[in-house]
Amino acid sequence: MQRKKSSPLLGKVLKKIAPKIGARVILEPRWNIVGQIIFKRGRKRYFRYSSLDLNPLGASEISNDKDYANFFMKRLGYPTVPGEAFFSPQWAEAIGSRRTFQAAYRYARKLGFPVVVKPNSGSQGRGVTLVYNKKEFYSALREIFLRDRVVLVQKPVLGNDYRVVVLNDKVISAYQRIPLNVIGDGVCTIRQLLLVKQRSFEASSRDTQLKLNDQRISKKLARQRLFMRSIPAKGRQVFLLDNANLSTGGDSIDVTREIHPDFKKIAVALTKDMGLRLCGVDLMVRGDIRQLPATYWILEINAAPGLDHYAKSGKAQEKIVEDLYLQVLKSME
Ligand SMILES: Nc1ncnc2c1ncn2[C@@H]1O[C@H](COP(=O)(O)OP(=O)(O)O)[C@@H](O)[C@H]1O
Ligand SMILES: [Mg+2]
Repeated sequence: MQRKKSSPLLGKVLKKIAPKIGARVILEPRWNIVGQIIFKRGRKRYFRYSSLDLNPLGASEISNDKDYANFFMKRLGYPTVPGEAFFSPQWAEAIGSRRTFQAAYRYARKLGFPVVVKPNSGSQGRGVTLVYNKKEFYSALREIFLRDRVVLVQKPVLGNDYRVVVLNDKVISAYQRIPLNVIGDGVCTIRQLLLVKQRSFEASSRDTQLKLNDQRISKKLARQRLFMRSIPAKGRQVFLLDNANLSTGGDSIDVTREIHPDFKKIAVALTKDMGLRLCGVDLMVRGDIRQLPATYWILEINAAPGLDHYAKSGKAQEKIVEDLYLQVLKSME
């Protein structure tokens, strides 16, 4: 099972800002991944990757399991994405469930292709695949079952993808996410444009690692009759993935100041209803999050949102990330 993973940056950021509130951070030196925060009055708190001592364990576990989280969110009246969970062959047999590979395929046909498949306990867009036919469905499921014994089969929902980060009763950050894409210059191949993109991430100390050999990329290109060696015309935007996670190279547009107050209320209420204090709410909105909510879906909730992954495009952005973590730190004390 995959856990929310983030860069060692969290430790670095916390270490840098802790003195502002008279706290200290002790990082485990070998991996720089886990740490202890010692607050002014001696209280100790811990973190591992981007999991902090802020959310209760039960609520965090539920939010790490998309199917369980959906059950409660749906019951609470939030618009979840239509979908069902199915089990790997071994697991279905072990627990004597009829939610088998075959049942998953029947359900996909009932929904109608294309469908979205994803690991139930995944994160960072890993394994999230839009599949168009039986062959793609089977190969995506086999891939997912290498890491997770539960898969979700969902209807694709269309719209703009947003991440809204809630801390206690406030939205501390909101941004739109746009799936990995390149813009042609009439000279470079798609592969070269991706390499340029990778270098620009490094230059801005964004730790995203693009996977050029991701099968999802070659399939998405093929559907557009393109290859890695194709040269897109100047100004042409080519999309390479269907998931908008920043971890897989998505772009972000900050909307923290512009998000509609009613969307803020929804994200804050959901966070509270799901027993969390810090939560990254993933939303698909048909339309714009700056407008009054009409049609939208809760894609998932994250109890350990990696704030530092947020595209770092300079000093101003870095300051924003530090301010976010300062608020988080204060909440932990
Ligand atoms: N049912 C769906 N319809 C359309 N896009 C989806 C759907 N499910 C996931 N996505 C896309 O994939 C991204 C990652 O999916 P998500 O469920 O949030 O998993 P993860 O935990 O890996 O982030 C979403 O932000 C969205 O861009
Ligand atoms: Mg997500």
